[in-house]
Amino acid sequence: MRVLSLVPVFLAFGVKSTLSATLDFQRRSVVHEKRVINPVSWKVHKELDKGTTLPFRIGLKQNNIANLEDYLMEVSHPDSPNYGQHWTPEKVIETFKPSFETVDTVTKWLKEAGISVERIKLAKSQGWVEMKLTIEEAEELLDAKYFMYEHVNGHKHIGCESYSLPAHVQPHIDIILPTVHFDVPKQHLTNPDSNLQRRSVTKGAGLSAHLATAGQLARGSSNASSLANCDTEITPACIRALYKFDDPLLLSTKKNSFAIVEYTPNAFVQSDLDMFFRNFSPSLVGTSPTLVSIDGAKKGVDQMQEQGFKFNGESNLDLEHAMTLIAPQKVTLYQVGDTVEGASFNNMLDAIDASFCTFEGGDSPIFDGIYPDTLPGGFTGPESCGIIKPANVISTSYGFTEVMATPEYEIRQCNEYGKLGLMGVTFLYSSGDTGVGGLDEVCIDPVTGLELSNGTKFDPGFPATCPFVTVVGATQVNPGSTIHDPESACDTVIFSGGGFSNVFGLPSYQESAVTSFLKKHPPPYTAEQFNNSGKVRGYPDVSSNGSKHVVAVDGEFVLVFGTSLAAPVFASMITAINDARLTIGKKPVGFINPAASLYSSLFSFALNDITSGNNPGCGTSGFNATTGWDPVTGLGTPNFETLKALWLVLP
Ligand SMILES: *[C@@H]1O[C@H](CO)[C@@H](O)[C@H](O)[C@H]1NC(C)=O
Ligand SMILES: *[C@@H]1O[C@H](CO)[C@@H](O)[C@H](O)[C@H]1NC(C)=O
Ligand SMILES: *[C@@H]1O[C@H](CO)[C@@H](O)[C@H](O)[C@H]1NC(C)=O
Ligand SMILES: *[C@@H]1O[C@H](CO)[C@@H](O)[C@H](O)[C@H]1NC(C)=O
Ligand SMILES: *[C@@H]1O[C@H](CO)[C@@H](O)[C@H](O)[C@H]1NC(C)=O
Repeated sequence: MRVLSLVPVFLAFGVKSTLSATLDFQRRSVVHEKRVINPVSWKVHKELDKGTTLPFRIGLKQNNIANLEDYLMEVSHPDSPNYGQHWTPEKVIETFKPSFETVDTVTKWLKEAGISVERIKLAKSQGWVEMKLTIEEAEELLDAKYFMYEHVNGHKHIGCESYSLPAHVQPHIDIILPTVHFDVPKQHLTNPDSNLQRRSVTKGAGLSAHLATAGQLARGSSNASSLANCDTEITPACIRALYKFDDPLLLSTKKNSFAIVEYTPNAFVQSDLDMFFRNFSPSLVGTSPTLVSIDGAKKGVDQMQEQGFKFNGESNLDLEHAMTLIAPQKVTLYQVGDTVEGASFNNMLDAIDASFCTFEGGDSPIFDGIYPDTLPGGFTGPESCGIIKPANVISTSYGFTEVMATPEYEIRQCNEYGKLGLMGVTFLYSSGDTGVGGLDEVCIDPVTGLELSNGTKFDPGFPATCPFVTVVGATQVNPGSTIHDPESACDTVIFSGGGFSNVFGLPSYQESAVTSFLKKHPPPYTAEQFNNSGKVRGYPDVSSNGSKHVVAVDGEFVLVFGTSLAAPVFASMITAINDARLTIGKKPVGFINPAASLYSSLFSFALNDITSGNNPGCGTSGFNATTGWDPVTGLGTPNFETLKALWLVLP
């Protein structure tokens, strides 16, 4: 159907518009984004009616964004005189909002192209320009050809193969939607058994908890304080002993905050939490995390149509262990997305930073939940935008892979983590459970760039490769050994995610670690497997135990493997360190990679280097854990006592 409301009628009849006047401009234009390959699952369905009107959004280049890493280092590196001097949200918005020149250049370009000023909307943060265009106008403006595409599953998408911008405009624009981006089709969240569906949990995310094989029921964990069975089942007592994380004395719980993010339809079950608490932390029986509902999410089982490990495993595991380890500190639960549409990392970021919300910051209807949800039974309220101040520490055990979205989308999201780091937030992500391969053990086909079961190129995870988050890999104690023996990389059931980015460059804090790894332990691979230039981000940063954790799920104690376990455990320790700092009047640690990440010499002895194990995938044995940083276990596992002592010394 033609929508003519905002468009002069003559355009709809194909009469040449004033856009012809801009042809000179277009001749001097440069290609801004182009798809190298067409995703296999999509095909051109039909050409579009030239009069069809669509909303178009232009993501403006943020001012000073190239300096983000430097700004972040200034408040996060222990050698910096401004260590710990985190920014206010206002300063962040002011610093990065597009320059006057950017806004001016883009709006002039649109005006000269015949798009009257009344049709152009500028977001409050000035990050986005939005307007409705006919397909004809868009094709002329962007020197593009638009099609309706159809996915094998029936999903439809409007897009083009490439688009161009005038040379003087191009430096002011990050991204225009809809154009070339459409890698991950949205799915409905009814059947988590299918791979596509499971990934769509966060519009393309896999969660990282795996149930141990059948029969590996935990023994009931009858003696919660015993360390004798730590090689067969990990309890909170084992974690405390392993990482010298004795019951910390927390004195600033009112001032402190710690959040765990879960994506609907994953949800916790209170009776399982209570079952776990009865064994391991009796004082918590009956307590729940503090719910922050994002985009219509409901609390725990209230939102659930179904139960089972796939729906409850991740949430129960994260909350049972974190709440026990960090009590009496309250744990906040960011539950994201309704049960109909689900949600993405961007939806969570919208909720904790208003400057990032849809129109102002870059949600994509292809990847992200768009609220209000127009689907039957969906959440009809407004999108959750800036509804809560971000917690000091935020832990997430979900992820997808770099190839599932576009670099522009990922860079824009990654910069947001950097901004939150500037404000003093520590963001932790698990590194994934499939070694150097992608979710479900697919890898990248070097010819098409697609994820295939017979792909041979390593398939790095996202947001794990974003240099502004802290990524936690997994280790395990070798069967038959005790906690007093060195751990090795987790290779019994899952393989710690690790490797090198194809999108993000090498952050300065990681330079010597990555350079030294590639020089001292050159992997027997070529650029066919991974970007071995030594100029890209490597992950994970650190690691923690990721195997055989005792978890109560659906009324039973089971053993769970996965880097899922590692992120909330590490996050609990950072939360206890924040408590100690707050108690003596200092600030939370914020972005920890430059300091604690222990990429600094000061912190190097606060981690137990893991030097055995590897992370196979893509028909290879992956990388080897070795002395120093490695793309399997990062810098190693934490020694809480030492970390805390060091962080108390820092200003
Ligand atoms: C539990 O284990 C601890 C440490 O091994 C031991 O001291 C205690 O007696 C045990 N308690 C029971 C009830 O077995
Ligand atoms: C890690 O988990 C495994 C599984 O129990 C356990 O045997 C080991 O003691 C734990 N230690 C470490 C390092 O994780
Ligand atoms: C991998 O699988 C795809 C799709 O099944 C096929 O087209 C391709 O030839 C295979 N590649 C190799 C190297 O076997
Ligand atoms: C890992 O170590 C083994 C044994 O030393 C070696 O053969 C292999 O090439 C190493 N792999 C990598 C990726 O470095
Ligand atoms: C590897 O990364 C570097 C730095 O980002 C880049 O210049 C280079 O093109 C990449 N190599 C490949 C093969 O993609």
